[in-house]
Amino acid sequence: MPPSTTAEPGVRPAIFRFRCIACGDLSDIASQNFRCSRCGDLLEITYPFSSKRSASPVAIEPANLKSSWKQRRLSTLPVDLSGVWRFRDLLPTLENEHHAITLREGNTPLYEMPQCARITGVPNLFAKHQGMNPTGSFKDTGMTVAASFARQAGFRWVACASTGNTSASMSAYAARGGMRSLVLVPDGKISWSKLSQALDYGAVTCQLRTDFDGCLRLLQELVLRAPIYQLNSINPFRLEGQKTLAFELLEQLDWEPPDHIIVPGGNLGNSSAIGKALLEMQDLGLISRLPKLSVIQAEGANALVRTLREASGKRLVSVQAETRATAIRIGNPASWKKAAHVLEATGGACEQVSEVEIAQAKAEIGAEGIGCEPASAVTLAGLKKLVKQGFVKAEENVVLILTGNLLKDPDFTMEFHSGDLFPGPSRDREHATLKALRHPPIVLDATLDAVIRTLEQAEKSGDSKT
Ligand code: F0G
Repeated sequence: MPPSTTAEPGVRPAIFRFRCIACGDLSDIASQNFRCSRCGDLLEITYPFSSKRSASPVAIEPANLKSSWKQRRLSTLPVDLSGVWRFRDLLPTLENEHHAITLREGNTPLYEMPQCARITGVPNLFAKHQGMNPTGSFKDTGMTVAASFARQAGFRWVACASTGNTSASMSAYAARGGMRSLVLVPDGKISWSKLSQALDYGAVTCQLRTDFDGCLRLLQELVLRAPIYQLNSINPFRLEGQKTLAFELLEQLDWEPPDHIIVPGGNLGNSSAIGKALLEMQDLGLISRLPKLSVIQAEGANALVRTLREASGKRLVSVQAETRATAIRIGNPASWKKAAHVLEATGGACEQVSEVEIAQAKAEIGAEGIGCEPASAVTLAGLKKLVKQGFVKAEENVVLILTGNLLKDPDFTMEFHSGDLFPGPSRDREHATLKALRHPPIVLDATLDAVIRTLEQAEKSGDSKT
């Protein structure tokens, strides 16, 4: 018996086209490098319903969509159990929706953050934890869509350049979908836990003697020479899947938009995807007002910050990236135009934070019992700045997007707690702030006395903290 469809009446499957973000050229097929055949800029996916000015708008009733999405939560079909494909009415349609490659991605928790709320002075502070996805990062939500389209198109090989998380995710979805995967990562600049995921999922893993930007450049040339499907966020199917973060978030908030959504910025695909989702939701009447979407970068990888400040968003100011938040160690972000557009459309801000601020914020998120990887912690560090600047007001609702799991970068966490993250005497005052957050492991003789003494000391220092 074929699986039953769970679509509600009035909810139509999404038909789509590719549109160039620069010249607006529309096409039904995309080239191997997902660039416009006329002007070479990036493509995005567009639907008849995604613009009020469209000549043949597909009528979508917001109430039907919302109830259909809720209804699917009761289903046991894999596509309905996926927190991405559950929203398939606003995604590109597969020839057979039940052929989606899914690891039950999405469905990530929205946490209250009481301690961070106290620290920032913003009581209504939440974190949506995309690190709770199957491979531990937000990449899975985009990968389920893009990998499914790769398989549908008959590709045997998929490939990506990565700072670690994309490669972990891609190789998992390729393995599930019966495809081979090629990973290009900068040698020595990604965390071992991400690298180990790609190895276990069977990827051909190349550590190139260059940075992320060099890996991506090479991949763009490679896909024009070999029948390999590229799964970086230049691939617009990735961004369609990553959009669902925003649908799910709004559903979790009962469709009451927060005032601010704060997201880390690396290659700038994720911020572009979330912004696209917000604009589509507003266009369709799913939400009545837009949250401000703000992007935070590491000071050492601040291409978008500089692009907006020094070139008014008109041309990319690329940088030689350096940060311990290796996931966002990117100097030449591919999706900068898309991100600049959604920042402007939603009225969001773009800020940068220092290495010490990232480390502090990461420890503070950890102390909530939540935890995240360093790149995700830029959101909290950035929020502190935006509050100081008066851009975020104390009474506003704020959602931080935590993009990766704490376990993604154990070296960073261990060095932080051991006091080895920032060696050298130059930053004494900052080190004092960090010291209170450190919980180094304690090596003891295996005696009851030693453990009890340690417990008593911890109790005393805990008292002095509260
Ligand atoms: N946070 C984490 C944990 C990431 O892995 C990335 C990007 C970002 C934030 C930034 O997102 O690139 O969409 O702006 N990681 C990519 C990778 C580049 O290869 O895993 P972005």
